[in-house]
Amino acid sequence: MRGMSDAIRGFIEACRAALAAGTWAKLTLGAHRGADATLRNVIVQPVALRSGDRLSFVYRHATRDVTKNLPPGEGLARVSELLATDFGGAHLFTTEAEIELQPARGRSAARVIRRPPRHDAPAPDTHDHARVRPIDPAGAAWLRTLGVVNAAGRPRDGMSGKLRQIEKFAEILLHHVAEIPPRGDRSLAVVDMGCGKGYLTFAAFEVLHSAGWTPLRVTGVERRADLVDACNRAAAEHGLDGLAFTRGDVASTPLDRADILVALHACDTATDDALAKGIAAGASLILASPCCHKEVRRGLRPPAILDPALRHGILLDRHAELVTDAVRASLLEWAGYDVKVFEFVSTEHTAKNLMIAAVRRPGPARTDAAAHAIRDFAAFHGLRRQRLAEHLGFTLDPAP
Ligand SMILES: C[S@@+](CC[C@H](N)C(=O)[O-])C[C@H]1O[C@@H](n2cnc3c(N)ncnc32)[C@H](O)[C@@H]1O
Repeated sequence: MRGMSDAIRGFIEACRAALAAGTWAKLTLGAHRGADATLRNVIVQPVALRSGDRLSFVYRHATRDVTKNLPPGEGLARVSELLATDFGGAHLFTTEAEIELQPARGRSAARVIRRPPRHDAPAPDTHDHARVRPIDPAGAAWLRTLGVVNAAGRPRDGMSGKLRQIEKFAEILLHHVAEIPPRGDRSLAVVDMGCGKGYLTFAAFEVLHSAGWTPLRVTGVERRADLVDACNRAAAEHGLDGLAFTRGDVASTPLDRADILVALHACDTATDDALAKGIAAGASLILASPCCHKEVRRGLRPPAILDPALRHGILLDRHAELVTDAVRASLLEWAGYDVKVFEFVSTEHTAKNLMIAAVRRPGPARTDAAAHAIRDFAAFHGLRRQRLAEHLGFTLDPAP
């Protein structure tokens, strides 16, 4: 027992040194022997939150993960407790060494073993944000001001879906920012079109600021003056320099610079107006989650063979969504972007759950082959006009 305590002490010292040196990549606690039979292991990584540096604990259970962020001192104490009670072994991966706490076996006491690094994971300031909770709900005071969480950092009534959406958006944003080709500096201009109450605009500012993008300018564009004023008040209250909201219409608001363009749940063709603005500004990344799809629903003239499906209103609605977003994705590709379309948040939280993520690629754009594919697709559906195509000067129906 005494040997085990010494080994834990030595191991914790190694953790403390890695934390201080900024070399800690990942700690895994294994050989579970605690009371909770569903707990498999715990992963601990340093994470830089706006509220300060934390150790992020991901408790991996059989069917779910639970994340808790602790200040570094408390976090090390927690690791020590977990090793004394629930876990027999641990591996600390640093950029300089792999350090193992090996459990006692037979007559040999627990011990600490140090090996050369096989983990070239980066040090904490460039850690993988997608794996840890990117926003600390208890530490992000703006979440309270916007009415998403209460003083304890827990979602207010009816806001847990919104919090989930904010966190998922933050993960998606961080993941895709990492795909932007490196530039000479870390300055970034982000525009959020149709930002509403600003939940996702604040989230973008929070995570990009924490990730070290500076100078950072995040602008929310919204046509409702009351929302713009409320968001500007909240940004000022929390001293978030670089975050601002402006009243305007998506289609007519000029953009002097937009490295990242966001348009989430902007109504109907406002999504197309925003996509066109992003393309015109040469945005490196465009994230759009479409809302309603009225324009294409009205314009569809599908072939009779689809009648058994499309005579039903709900199926026609869904088909219009599919055609609209397929045309948008294809036009973005034609305009020079790599495009992914995926589920944003589960339909359990909102029906508006599709995300179009477009990263500008260096290769050729506006090829004839891409244009033909879009026109064939539109022709099959009898679609002659679509707002994004019009913005781009792309004729869907080349027939006179
Ligand atoms: C459904 S809310 C979404 C807000 C926010 N993007 C989000 O996802 O949490 C849509 C917002 O876009 C605004 N909006 C819709 N069309 C717009 C337009 N053409 N120009 C500016 N704002 C617009 C609406 O006023 C509304 O606040």
